[in-house]
Amino acid sequence: MNKNPVVQIKNLVKDYGTKGFQTKVLKGIDFTIEKDDFIAVMGPSGSGKTTLLNILSTIDQPTMGTVFVDGQEVTRMSNRELSKLRRDKIGFIFQDYNLLDTMTLQDNIALPLSLGGVSGRECVERVEKLARRFGLEEHLKKYPYQLSGGQKQRGATCRALITGPEIIFADEPTGALDSKAGRELLECLRGVNENGQATILMVTHDPFCASYARDVYMLCDGRMICRISRGADRKEFYDRIIDMQTSMGGELSWG
Ligand SMILES: Nc1ncnc2c1ncn2[C@@H]1O[C@H](COP(=O)(O)OP(=O)(O)O)[C@@H](O)[C@H]1O
Ligand SMILES: [Mg+2]
Repeated sequence: MNKNPVVQIKNLVKDYGTKGFQTKVLKGIDFTIEKDDFIAVMGPSGSGKTTLLNILSTIDQPTMGTVFVDGQEVTRMSNRELSKLRRDKIGFIFQDYNLLDTMTLQDNIALPLSLGGVSGRECVERVEKLARRFGLEEHLKKYPYQLSGGQKQRGATCRALITGPEIIFADEPTGALDSKAGRELLECLRGVNENGQATILMVTHDPFCASYARDVYMLCDGRMICRISRGADRKEFYDRIIDMQTSMGGELSWG
């Protein structure tokens, strides 16, 4: 199989605080995301998942180490270059949706296109096509306050996908959803990944959420300690994730 790295990190270190009062959050991580991967990084609360995601998605900067996105070294890019990279190549899904309250769902999903200068008519067509796949076509004229959590998060996922980015980053995407809405969202993510429409990296503390990915890595004490891969059966994968979690220390706070 052809290897095609979308994101590559080498010896990534992140400290917070000032000299003498430092917290070492990431202690030297090497990691590659290939095209069409669907990876979940799991770790207990406070293990550095959000920190890692923010560095990979160029929102935050590492203390040491290098990050490549689509072959470009982001740690050396100017702010202007970074904005362009984020706009063209990266899609984000946040735990709390981050939709704009004053815009309809249609306009929220279209936002990355309108910011990129795509015409109104083309925006509408592309949004409608994507929304249909996510069961949102009847809700496009509504405002976020008129939508359920699940609908909002599926809308946020459409917004992340609308520009056809190289990679989608998702931070606890089901964290604010009930279990049914969470399952629907994960099935959508798995669907777009299996269709070759999205390379996905998500971080989560939740083994159920992680079991929808194809590979799961564990982040513990600042290091990426192991990787397991799914076979055909999600339930069996879920059981193995739970076993791995238990062997890492069931006393850790996973909430
Ligand atoms: N801006 C910051 N300043 C100082 N410490 C931070 C900052 N952001 C996160 N931390 C600390 O880094 C550690 C990892 O945080 P985070 O990446 O949010 O973990 P997770 O997402 O796995 O729960 C925590 O101990 C947290 O308190
Ligand atoms: Mg977090």
